[in-house]
Amino acid sequence: MSKLLIRGGEILTGTDRYQAEVYCEGSIIRAIGAQLAVPAGTEVIDATGLLVMPGGLDPHVHMALPFMGTVSADDFESGTIAGICGGVTTIIDFCIPNANQSLLEALRQWDEKAKIAVADYSYHMAITWWSEQVAEEMAVVVRERGITSFKHFMAYKGALMLNDDQLYHSFCRVKELNGIATVHAENGDLVWNLQRKLLAEGKTGPEYHAVSRPPEVEGEATNRVIRIAEVVGVPVYIVHLSSKAALEAVIAARLRGQRHVYAESLINHLVLDDAVYRQPGFEAAAYVMSPPFRPAGNPAALWDGLKAGMIQATGTDHCPFTMQQKAMGKDNFTLIPNGCPAIEDRMSLLWHHGVNGGRLSPQEFVNLFTTNACRIFGLYPRKGTIAVGSDADLVVFDPEKTRTISARTHHHRVDRSIFEGMTVKGNPTHVIAGGKLVYKEGDLRVERGAGRFLPRKPYGL
Ligand code: URP
Ligand code: ZN
Ligand code: ZN
Repeated sequence: MSKLLIRGGEILTGTDRYQAEVYCEGSIIRAIGAQLAVPAGTEVIDATGLLVMPGGLDPHVHMALPFMGTVSADDFESGTIAGICGGVTTIIDFCIPNANQSLLEALRQWDEKAKIAVADYSYHMAITWWSEQVAEEMAVVVRERGITSFKHFMAYKGALMLNDDQLYHSFCRVKELNGIATVHAENGDLVWNLQRKLLAEGKTGPEYHAVSRPPEVEGEATNRVIRIAEVVGVPVYIVHLSSKAALEAVIAARLRGQRHVYAESLINHLVLDDAVYRQPGFEAAAYVMSPPFRPAGNPAALWDGLKAGMIQATGTDHCPFTMQQKAMGKDNFTLIPNGCPAIEDRMSLLWHHGVNGGRLSPQEFVNLFTTNACRIFGLYPRKGTIAVGSDADLVVFDPEKTRTISARTHHHRVDRSIFEGMTVKGNPTHVIAGGKLVYKEGDLRVERGAGRFLPRKPYGL
């Protein structure tokens, strides 16, 4: 059984900051305190002058996702490796059945793909069609697998999109099962019509992706789906909330007392705006994701939403495609696979812009990096904190260490970084996952398949 002591560091959680040692045995934190007596043979990490934080949860990733005629470029091994390098020790991917496919069959496919993960994982189950069979299988995934969150797409018309009737039926079932509904909120009919209009006008370049999905499209869908959730009485979590228009819908709901409404924003939308689409040639395709990057002013509104507690979680929607894959949409922006890489960079970017930028306290940072999403998705206190009995997933973090982000050095399996050239201060030095030191100052010691599937608790427990 592995034995590991982190000595000399300052523990930082969502609520506390104090000097203490952490002793891990096997995959569990066994003791926290001063001058701990530990067995012979214990590996010691000297964290003097450094912070010791709970490992990150990325609640929104897509590894090896078949999407828009291709497959996202990171599989569960390379994607979780990139995560480990960026302090992420747990991911929640999305199991996405095809139209008319059994949820349980899709789950078998995802289990097969996930066997190579180097870090722990769970899935949100996507509802992409509706029938009695789907309703029955939802109960099976909750009871037998501990998958307690269900994803709904209001966009991607003709593929993943659900209409209001289907949303209503699925939300009712999620409520019966004590789950939580998660939603990609963009009005898919509006997007579809704007895309057709732009193409008819000969506007085919990647820069028109953002024009086809303006913030109003997200604001409308966010308001509508929150109201549907209100009528049903089900908790709802808006994924990748990217605009002030959508944030206003969340704030309005919370102000009228609809308190089981949550929002997640991506580090992508927090640090970039739609200037990224003003690049020469086809380069802007590297930034084609949905929702798109927003006009200036929107990222500032999202930071305000984080500060005010109106946005409770951050993620990345890590869904990378190479430029060769993006070229599928060379002559038609609607065919560019949607998605960007980011899992490796959220921790340092959120610290750099949040804590160094004077927007977040260190404790708020931890809540937004891991703890809040662990609570919302039924992983807390196994994940998301540093406590005796919790999983030994830890990040030793140097707030003074700088790094310049680049596709030349990142672990994402793609040829572009959307954060290319950004220098960030605050980076992990050591990462411990499941009690094992898996990253030490750039040296990776991961084990293919070491990641475990995590059953999660029902909402609210
Ligand atoms: O562009 C994106 N976000 N791709 C991944 C699928 C999704 O909508 O989350
Ligand atoms: Zn989405
Ligand atoms: Zn996504």
